[in-house]
Amino acid sequence: MTHSHEHAHLASALDLDAELVGGYLDDAAAAITRSLGRTPQRIVDLGAGTGTGTEALARDFAGAEVVAVDSSPEMIARVDERARAGGFESRTTTLVADLDDGLPPLDSPDVIWAAMSLHHVADPAALLRQAAAALAPDGVVAIVEMAGLPRFAPDADTALGTLEARCHAAASGAGWEAIVDWTDTLGAAGYDVLHRDTIHVARTGPSESVARYAVHWFSQFRHRLADDLSGSDLASLDCLIAPADPASLHKRADLTLRAGRLLWVARPAA
Ligand SMILES: C[S@@+](CC[C@H](N)C(=O)[O-])C[C@H]1O[C@@H](n2cnc3c(N)ncnc32)[C@H](O)[C@@H]1O
Repeated sequence: MTHSHEHAHLASALDLDAELVGGYLDDAAAAITRSLGRTPQRIVDLGAGTGTGTEALARDFAGAEVVAVDSSPEMIARVDERARAGGFESRTTTLVADLDDGLPPLDSPDVIWAAMSLHHVADPAALLRQAAAALAPDGVVAIVEMAGLPRFAPDADTALGTLEARCHAAASGAGWEAIVDWTDTLGAAGYDVLHRDTIHVARTGPSESVARYAVHWFSQFRHRLADDLSGSDLASLDCLIAPADPASLHKRADLTLRAGRLLWVARPAA
Protein backbone atom coordinates (compact mmCIF):
# COMPACT_ATOMS: atom_id res chain seq x y z
CA MET A 1 0.00 0.00 0.00
CA THR A 2 1.29 3.49 -0.81
CA HIS A 3 1.66 6.12 1.92
CA SER A 4 -1.41 8.06 0.75
CA HIS A 5 -3.46 4.85 0.46
CA GLU A 6 -2.49 3.92 4.02
CA HIS A 7 -3.66 7.33 5.23
CA ALA A 8 -6.90 7.11 3.28
CA HIS A 9 -7.49 3.61 4.69
CA LEU A 10 -6.78 4.68 8.29
CA ALA A 11 -8.91 7.80 7.86
CA SER A 12 -11.90 5.84 6.58
CA ALA A 13 -11.52 3.28 9.40
CA LEU A 14 -11.43 6.16 11.94
CA ASP A 15 -14.54 7.74 10.44
CA LEU A 16 -16.36 4.39 10.51
CA ASP A 17 -15.25 3.95 14.11
CA ALA A 18 -16.63 7.42 14.91
CA GLU A 19 -19.95 6.67 13.23
CA LEU A 20 -20.43 3.40 15.10
CA VAL A 21 -18.68 3.92 18.44
CA GLY A 22 -18.56 7.73 18.67
CA GLY A 23 -21.51 7.75 21.06
CA TYR A 24 -18.97 7.31 23.89
CA LEU A 25 -17.73 10.87 23.33
CA ASP A 26 -20.67 12.62 25.01
CA ASP A 27 -20.25 10.39 28.09
CA ALA A 28 -16.54 11.23 28.12
CA ALA A 29 -17.27 14.97 27.90
CA ALA A 30 -19.66 14.69 30.86
CA ALA A 31 -16.97 12.85 32.89
CA ILE A 32 -14.48 15.63 32.06
CA THR A 33 -16.86 18.33 33.29
CA ARG A 34 -17.46 16.42 36.54
CA SER A 35 -13.74 15.90 37.18
CA LEU A 36 -12.77 19.45 36.23
CA GLY A 37 -15.65 20.94 38.23
CA ARG A 38 -16.39 23.40 35.45
CA THR A 39 -16.71 23.65 31.69
CA PRO A 40 -13.31 23.69 29.96
CA GLN A 41 -12.33 26.76 27.94
CA ARG A 42 -9.14 25.45 26.30
CA ILE A 43 -8.73 21.88 25.09
CA VAL A 44 -5.89 20.15 23.26
CA ASP A 45 -6.56 16.99 21.23
CA LEU A 46 -3.32 14.98 20.88
CA GLY A 47 -3.20 12.58 17.93
CA ALA A 48 -6.45 14.02 16.61
CA GLY A 49 -6.67 11.78 13.53
CA THR A 50 -9.60 12.87 11.36
CA GLY A 51 -10.93 15.08 14.17
CA THR A 52 -13.61 12.88 15.71
CA GLY A 53 -12.68 14.00 19.22
CA THR A 54 -11.95 17.58 18.15
CA GLU A 55 -15.46 17.90 16.74
CA ALA A 56 -17.20 16.22 19.67
CA LEU A 57 -15.32 18.35 22.20
CA ALA A 58 -16.04 21.54 20.22
CA ARG A 59 -19.72 20.54 20.11
CA ASP A 60 -20.04 19.52 23.78
CA PHE A 61 -18.05 22.52 25.04
CA ALA A 62 -19.57 25.19 22.82
CA GLY A 63 -17.46 28.10 24.05
CA ALA A 64 -14.13 26.27 24.13
CA GLU A 65 -11.07 26.75 21.95
CA VAL A 66 -9.70 23.43 20.66
CA VAL A 67 -6.17 22.78 19.44
CA ALA A 68 -5.80 19.60 17.34
CA VAL A 69 -2.31 18.11 17.08
CA ASP A 70 -1.25 15.26 14.79
CA SER A 71 2.02 14.25 13.13
CA SER A 72 0.22 13.58 9.86
CA PRO A 73 -0.45 16.56 7.58
CA GLU A 74 -3.12 14.46 5.80
CA MET A 75 -5.00 13.95 9.08
CA ILE A 76 -4.68 17.61 10.04
CA ALA A 77 -6.09 18.59 6.63
CA ARG A 78 -9.14 16.46 7.45
CA VAL A 79 -9.54 18.18 10.83
CA ASP A 80 -9.41 21.58 9.07
CA GLU A 81 -12.06 20.40 6.61
CA ARG A 82 -14.25 19.05 9.42
CA ALA A 83 -13.95 22.30 11.41
CA ARG A 84 -14.99 24.31 8.35
CA ALA A 85 -17.91 21.99 7.56
CA GLY A 86 -18.99 21.85 11.22
CA GLY A 87 -18.85 25.61 11.74
CA PHE A 88 -16.31 25.50 14.60
CA GLU A 89 -13.35 26.69 12.55
CA SER A 90 -13.03 29.99 14.42
CA ARG A 91 -12.47 28.10 17.70
CA THR A 92 -10.09 25.50 16.25
CA THR A 93 -6.35 25.62 15.73
CA THR A 94 -4.55 22.75 14.04
CA LEU A 95 -0.92 21.86 14.39
CA VAL A 96 1.26 19.30 12.59
CA ALA A 97 3.72 18.10 15.25
CA ASP A 98 5.43 14.83 16.10
CA LEU A 99 4.75 14.09 19.77
CA ASP A 100 7.85 11.87 19.81
CA ASP A 101 9.73 15.19 19.85
CA GLY A 102 7.77 16.26 22.95
CA LEU A 103 4.71 18.38 23.51
CA PRO A 104 4.52 21.52 21.37
CA PRO A 105 4.10 24.80 23.31
CA LEU A 106 0.53 24.95 24.65
CA ASP A 107 -1.27 27.82 26.28
CA SER A 108 -2.22 26.29 29.67
CA PRO A 109 -5.11 24.11 28.48
CA ASP A 110 -7.84 22.98 30.88
CA VAL A 111 -7.97 19.57 29.20
CA ILE A 112 -5.42 17.55 27.27
CA TRP A 113 -7.32 14.80 25.44
CA ALA A 114 -5.61 11.81 23.82
CA ALA A 115 -7.89 9.17 22.27
CA MET A 116 -6.33 5.98 20.91
CA SER A 117 -3.13 7.94 20.39
CA LEU A 118 -1.00 7.75 23.55
CA HIS A 119 0.08 4.18 22.74
CA HIS A 120 1.54 5.47 19.46
CA VAL A 121 4.08 7.83 21.00
CA ALA A 122 7.61 6.68 21.76
CA ASP A 123 7.62 7.65 25.47
CA PRO A 124 4.06 8.01 26.83
CA ALA A 125 5.23 8.55 30.43
CA ALA A 126 7.49 11.45 29.41
CA LEU A 127 4.64 12.97 27.39
CA LEU A 128 2.31 12.67 30.39
CA ARG A 129 4.88 14.45 32.61
CA GLN A 130 5.16 17.24 30.04
CA ALA A 131 1.36 17.43 29.88
CA ALA A 132 1.23 17.85 33.68
CA ALA A 133 3.57 20.84 33.42
CA ALA A 134 1.64 22.35 30.48
CA LEU A 135 -1.87 22.14 32.00
CA ALA A 136 -3.71 25.03 33.65
CA PRO A 137 -3.37 24.76 37.47
CA ASP A 138 -6.56 22.69 37.92
CA GLY A 139 -6.42 21.08 34.44
CA VAL A 140 -6.88 17.41 33.63
CA VAL A 141 -5.77 14.87 31.07
CA ALA A 142 -8.41 12.63 29.49
CA ILE A 143 -7.02 9.45 27.96
CA VAL A 144 -9.08 7.02 25.89
CA GLU A 145 -8.18 3.55 24.66
CA MET A 146 -10.12 0.62 23.27
CA ALA A 147 -11.49 -1.68 25.97
CA GLY A 148 -10.63 -4.85 24.10
CA LEU A 149 -11.25 -5.54 20.43
CA PRO A 150 -14.71 -5.01 18.95
CA ARG A 151 -16.80 -8.17 18.61
CA PHE A 152 -19.05 -8.83 15.65
CA ALA A 153 -20.23 -12.46 15.89
CA PRO A 154 -23.84 -12.50 17.07
CA ASP A 155 -23.27 -15.87 18.72
CA ALA A 156 -19.99 -16.99 20.34
CA ASP A 157 -20.64 -20.69 19.58
CA THR A 158 -20.76 -20.33 15.80
CA ALA A 159 -17.85 -20.78 13.36
CA LEU A 160 -17.54 -16.99 13.17
CA GLY A 161 -17.67 -16.64 16.96
CA THR A 162 -14.94 -19.20 17.62
CA LEU A 163 -12.73 -17.82 14.83
CA GLU A 164 -13.17 -14.32 16.26
CA ALA A 165 -12.16 -15.61 19.71
CA ARG A 166 -9.00 -17.23 18.26
CA CYS A 167 -8.16 -13.96 16.43
CA HIS A 168 -8.55 -11.98 19.67
CA ALA A 169 -6.40 -14.46 21.57
CA ALA A 170 -3.72 -14.27 18.86
CA ALA A 171 -3.85 -10.44 18.88
CA SER A 172 -3.43 -10.45 22.63
CA GLY A 173 -0.54 -12.95 22.36
CA ALA A 174 1.07 -10.75 19.71
CA GLY A 175 0.86 -7.81 22.14
CA TRP A 176 -1.29 -5.53 20.01
CA GLU A 177 -0.46 -2.15 21.37
CA ALA A 178 -3.96 -0.75 21.02
CA ILE A 179 -5.14 -2.50 24.16
CA VAL A 180 -3.40 -0.80 27.04
CA ASP A 181 -4.08 0.22 30.62
CA TRP A 182 -2.61 3.59 31.58
CA THR A 183 -3.52 3.50 35.29
CA ASP A 184 -0.01 2.69 36.55
CA THR A 185 1.71 4.98 34.05
CA LEU A 186 -0.51 7.89 35.11
CA GLY A 187 0.34 7.23 38.76
CA ALA A 188 4.07 6.98 38.04
CA ALA A 189 3.90 10.24 36.03
CA GLY A 190 2.50 12.02 39.11
CA TYR A 191 -1.24 12.04 38.43
CA ASP A 192 -4.23 11.30 40.64
CA VAL A 193 -6.76 9.32 38.62
CA LEU A 194 -10.11 11.04 39.23
CA HIS A 195 -12.23 8.90 36.96
CA ARG A 196 -11.75 5.56 35.26
CA ASP A 197 -14.46 3.59 33.58
CA THR A 198 -15.43 1.54 30.58
CA ILE A 199 -18.03 2.98 28.26
CA HIS A 200 -19.81 0.19 26.38
CA VAL A 201 -21.32 0.60 22.94
CA ALA A 202 -23.59 -2.00 21.31
CA ARG A 203 -25.20 -2.11 17.87
CA THR A 204 -27.67 -4.73 16.78
CA GLY A 205 -29.79 -5.02 13.68
CA PRO A 206 -28.70 -5.05 10.06
CA SER A 207 -26.18 -2.37 9.25
CA GLU A 208 -23.99 -1.95 6.20
CA SER A 209 -21.58 0.12 8.32
CA VAL A 210 -21.21 -2.68 10.89
CA ALA A 211 -20.40 -5.12 8.05
CA ARG A 212 -17.77 -2.72 6.65
CA TYR A 213 -16.28 -2.22 10.12
CA ALA A 214 -16.17 -6.02 10.58
CA VAL A 215 -14.35 -6.36 7.25
CA HIS A 216 -11.83 -3.76 8.44
CA TRP A 217 -11.10 -5.70 11.64
CA PHE A 218 -11.01 -9.17 10.09
CA SER A 219 -8.65 -7.79 7.41
CA GLN A 220 -6.39 -6.56 10.20
CA PHE A 221 -6.40 -10.07 11.71
CA ARG A 222 -5.68 -11.64 8.30
CA HIS A 223 -2.73 -9.38 7.53
CA ARG A 224 -1.24 -8.62 10.94
CA LEU A 225 -1.65 -12.08 12.51
CA ALA A 226 -0.54 -14.15 9.49
CA ASP A 227 2.27 -15.70 11.58
CA ASP A 228 0.07 -16.37 14.61
CA LEU A 229 -3.03 -18.07 13.16
CA SER A 230 -3.40 -21.53 11.63
CA GLY A 231 -3.54 -22.03 7.85
CA SER A 232 -7.21 -22.98 8.06
CA ASP A 233 -8.07 -19.85 10.07
CA LEU A 234 -6.21 -17.71 7.52
CA ALA A 235 -8.16 -19.40 4.70
CA SER A 236 -11.44 -18.70 6.55
CA LEU A 237 -10.41 -15.07 7.00
CA ASP A 238 -9.67 -14.81 3.26
CA CYS A 239 -13.25 -15.91 2.54
CA LEU A 240 -14.72 -13.54 5.13
CA ILE A 241 -13.00 -10.46 3.74
CA ALA A 242 -13.37 -11.24 0.00
CA PRO A 243 -16.34 -9.21 -1.28
CA ALA A 244 -17.44 -11.87 -3.80
CA ASP A 245 -17.09 -14.96 -1.57
CA PRO A 246 -20.41 -16.59 -0.58
CA ALA A 247 -19.21 -16.54 3.07
CA SER A 248 -18.14 -12.88 2.90
CA LEU A 249 -18.84 -10.60 5.84
CA HIS A 250 -19.92 -8.05 3.22
CA LYS A 251 -23.00 -10.20 2.59
CA ARG A 252 -23.99 -10.77 6.21
CA ALA A 253 -26.85 -8.82 7.71
CA ASP A 254 -26.79 -10.52 11.12
CA LEU A 255 -23.58 -9.02 12.50
CA THR A 256 -23.70 -7.17 15.80
CA LEU A 257 -21.14 -4.78 17.22
CA ARG A 258 -20.06 -4.81 20.83
CA ALA A 259 -17.24 -2.41 21.62
CA GLY A 260 -15.95 -0.41 24.54
CA ARG A 261 -13.71 2.48 25.39
CA LEU A 262 -11.64 2.90 28.53
CA LEU A 263 -11.53 6.46 29.83
CA TRP A 264 -9.19 7.93 32.40
CA VAL A 265 -9.48 11.50 33.65
CA ALA A 266 -6.50 12.46 35.80
CA ARG A 267 -5.05 15.57 37.42
CA PRO A 268 -1.43 16.21 38.36
CA ALA A 269 -1.11 15.55 42.10
CA ALA A 270 -0.78 18.73 44.15
C1 LIG B 1 -5.79 5.63 16.06
S1 LIG B 1 -5.64 7.30 15.56
C2 LIG B 1 -6.74 8.09 16.71
C3 LIG B 1 -7.36 9.32 16.15
C4 LIG B 1 -8.38 10.05 17.01
N1 LIG B 1 -7.82 10.50 18.26
C5 LIG B 1 -9.63 9.24 17.24
O1 LIG B 1 -9.98 9.00 18.38
O2 LIG B 1 -10.29 8.86 16.26
C6 LIG B 1 -4.02 7.79 16.14
C7 LIG B 1 -3.56 9.13 15.61
O3 LIG B 1 -2.34 9.48 16.29
C8 LIG B 1 -1.45 10.06 15.36
N2 LIG B 1 -0.08 9.89 15.84
C9 LIG B 1 0.61 8.72 15.94
N3 LIG B 1 1.84 8.93 16.40
C10 LIG B 1 1.95 10.28 16.59
C11 LIG B 1 3.00 11.12 17.04
N4 LIG B 1 4.18 10.62 17.39
N5 LIG B 1 2.79 12.44 17.10
C12 LIG B 1 1.58 12.96 16.76
N6 LIG B 1 0.55 12.20 16.32
C13 LIG B 1 0.73 10.88 16.24
C14 LIG B 1 -1.73 9.34 14.05
O4 LIG B 1 -1.33 10.11 12.92
C15 LIG B 1 -3.24 9.13 14.12
O5 LIG B 1 -3.93 10.17 13.49
